[in-house]
Amino acid sequence: MLQALNDSIKYIKNKIGDFEPEIGIVLGTGLGGLVNEIEVAHSIMYASIPNFPISTLEFHSGKLIFGTLKGKKVVAMQGRLHFYEGYSMQQITFPIRAMKLLGIQYLFVSNAAGSLNPEFKKGDLMIINDHINLQPESPLRGINNSDFGPRFPDMSQPYQKDLIAKAVKIAEEKNITCHQGVYVSVTGPNLETKAEYKYLRIIGGDAVGMSTVPEVIVANHMSIPVFAISVLTDEGFPEDLKPVSLEEIIETAAKAEPKMTEILSQLISTL
Ligand code: HPA
Repeated sequence: MLQALNDSIKYIKNKIGDFEPEIGIVLGTGLGGLVNEIEVAHSIMYASIPNFPISTLEFHSGKLIFGTLKGKKVVAMQGRLHFYEGYSMQQITFPIRAMKLLGIQYLFVSNAAGSLNPEFKKGDLMIINDHINLQPESPLRGINNSDFGPRFPDMSQPYQKDLIAKAVKIAEEKNITCHQGVYVSVTGPNLETKAEYKYLRIIGGDAVGMSTVPEVIVANHMSIPVFAISVLTDEGFPEDLKPVSLEEIIETAAKAEPKMTEILSQLISTL
C-alpha cells in the first residue's frame, strides 16, 4: 500500500505545489455545504489520482478540494466511500492515509445517521463521543505497517476530548441543540428492522449509520485527532417505526446542515 500511496501523493503534490493542508474534512450524505465556505485553491477528481478509489454514488463529484476555510488550510473529500459500495476497508480509508501523508493534523468527519435515543429527535445534531463497530472487518486487518502506526492501536478515546468540549461551547453560544453520544457503524445499504433498531439501542447506541468508523479507526492508527458529528435524519424508534426514504434523509440533512456547518467552521477557526 505504501507504494500506491506514494504514487498518489506524488501526483497530488505535483498539482497542488507547496499547498500544505493542516485539516482534513470528510462530509456525509447531503452535508456537502461546508465545501461552499472553502476558498478553493485546487480541486482534483478522484478518478484522475493514481490508485484512488472512485465513489460509485457520486462519480462525477468525487473530488479532493484544497483551499482555505476560516484562515486554515484544508483538504475536503467531496464524495465519501462506503463499504456497501463494494470497496475493501483499505480502499475506503486510503484517502485518510493520503491526507495524513499530505500533512493534516486534524480530521473532521460528518455523517447522516438514524437516531436510536428517544431523546434525540430527527433534525438534531449529535457529536460522536464513542462508537461501536459492527462493520464486518477492521481497515487494519492485514500486515501492519509500523511507519503508519502500531499493530494494536489504543481506542480508549477515539474522538478528541478538547474538540468535543469546544464544539459543545460553540453550540451553546449559538443556541444550537447538540447532543453527544455513541455512533454504531453498520454495513447497510439496507436500513434497520424494528428488531435491529431495538438491539442497537440495547447495546448502547445513540445513533446508527453506514460510515465514519473505518475512517476514524485509520485516523487513530495514524495518531490524527478526530472530531465527528452526526445529523440525525430519521428516528429508529421500534415502537413507532415509519418507513424512511433516501429522499427524506437527504431533505432532513439539508435542513439541519447549516447548524452543523456553523459548528464545524467555528471549531476549525479555533485551531
Ligand atoms: N440507519 C442506518 N444508516 C442511516 C440511517 C439509519 O436509520 N439514517 C441515516 N443513515
